[in-house]
Amino acid sequence: MVDLRTNIAGIELRNPVLPAAGPNVKDASAMFSAWDSGAGGIVSKTVSVKPADDKRPTIRRTICSGIVNCETWSETPLVTFLGDLHKVKSAGCPLIASIGYKPNEVRELGQIIEKEISPDGFEFSVHYVGHRTEPIVEVASALRETVDKPIFMKVSPNFLDIPELIKAVLPFVDGFAAINSFGPVLDFDVENPIPRLGSDYGQGWISGPTILPIALRIIYQISTITDKPIIGIGGVEKGIDAVKMLMAGASAVGICSGAIKSGHQIYGKVSNEIGDWLNEHGQTSAEEIRGRYSHELAHRRTFSKIPVNFVDREKCVGCGACLSKCLQCAILMDDNKAAVESKRCIGCGYCTDFCPKGALTLNLR
Ligand SMILES: Cc1cc2nc3c(=O)[nH]c(=O)nc-3n(C[C@H](O)[C@H](O)[C@H](O)COP(=O)(O)O)c2cc1C
Ligand code: SF4
Ligand code: SF4
Repeated sequence: MVDLRTNIAGIELRNPVLPAAGPNVKDASAMFSAWDSGAGGIVSKTVSVKPADDKRPTIRRTICSGIVNCETWSETPLVTFLGDLHKVKSAGCPLIASIGYKPNEVRELGQIIEKEISPDGFEFSVHYVGHRTEPIVEVASALRETVDKPIFMKVSPNFLDIPELIKAVLPFVDGFAAINSFGPVLDFDVENPIPRLGSDYGQGWISGPTILPIALRIIYQISTITDKPIIGIGGVEKGIDAVKMLMAGASAVGICSGAIKSGHQIYGKVSNEIGDWLNEHGQTSAEEIRGRYSHELAHRRTFSKIPVNFVDREKCVGCGACLSKCLQCAILMDDNKAAVESKRCIGCGYCTDFCPKGALTLNLR
């Protein structure tokens, strides 16, 4: 029996799937929809001292099932947003309030929100705090001085030295949310090449499946530095995406673009799919697979010399799917089975991903 209950920095979630800050949690009604659709808790849209003034359009679709956006923080005045947070917290949903950005702003917001709402935790976004470590540490330390509740830092993927940043903020935070959208990026329609977003020149931030591998890398990097919980965010749309994030080192996952694309029901769907996967693999909780990637890394096979592709003739069914995948023309058919011309094979490994029977592996020559 799988138990999906998850604890992050003392916050009890009914399952590990949370909304990530965005229009999907922009007010009380959206946050209740997320909760009613099966989210394990709520992370609210980032609010700041002044309402944002976003130029339309703010959200467009882009390549690889991604989304580009130029939405900043909440356009709702703080006093109204406090009312929304109050409703959600009073209904008993575990609530992490997302705030930003400068030290004086998070001090002011932390003080008001902790006193008036008493959320279960805070998340602060560093999206507009720049690319240097010191200003971010100043924000983290300002919030730490102000609130008692657990603090999560939302990590921007644009930061180059993630380990340096994580080590520097570690004394001030209780966990991480990784990652925010990536950018700036640009996309447009060749038949009508005008800006598709209302920002300066149409630039935006990309999210969705396109950024999942960036998120996995950053979650893994953070997990090698600290045991503090990580909310893995970026491109989660299916249970298997969430399972990858947990294996990379996350304790919970967050979803924004998936909810924009398919609606709030995605939280419950992903949670159920995580449960099914764990059940099928004989696991009883998400915690059991947390960080499995790191453990496996220690046992991985490495090659000191260029390896060669090896065909297991017992497993090969002669479907030919691997033939066109080798740019070196190293695979041919021999007696209705694949065979490798070892002199041509450069051991790149690409073909092994396309064999439906798992008949291809790299081996020492
Ligand atoms: C339209 C939109 C608005 C967003 N607004 C916020 C925000 O207010 N605060 C924040 O920290 N992240 C914000 N994000 C980033 C998401 O929370 C999330 O980190 C990112 O989109 C990657 O996750 P996803 O692929 O599930 O969307 C926003 C993303 C989108 C697409
Ligand atoms: S490992 Fe690379 S070079 Fe070798 S057979 Fe496969 S695709 Fe070709
Ligand atoms: S893809 Fe796999 S099963 Fe098909 S021919 Fe190649 S090795 Fe054989």
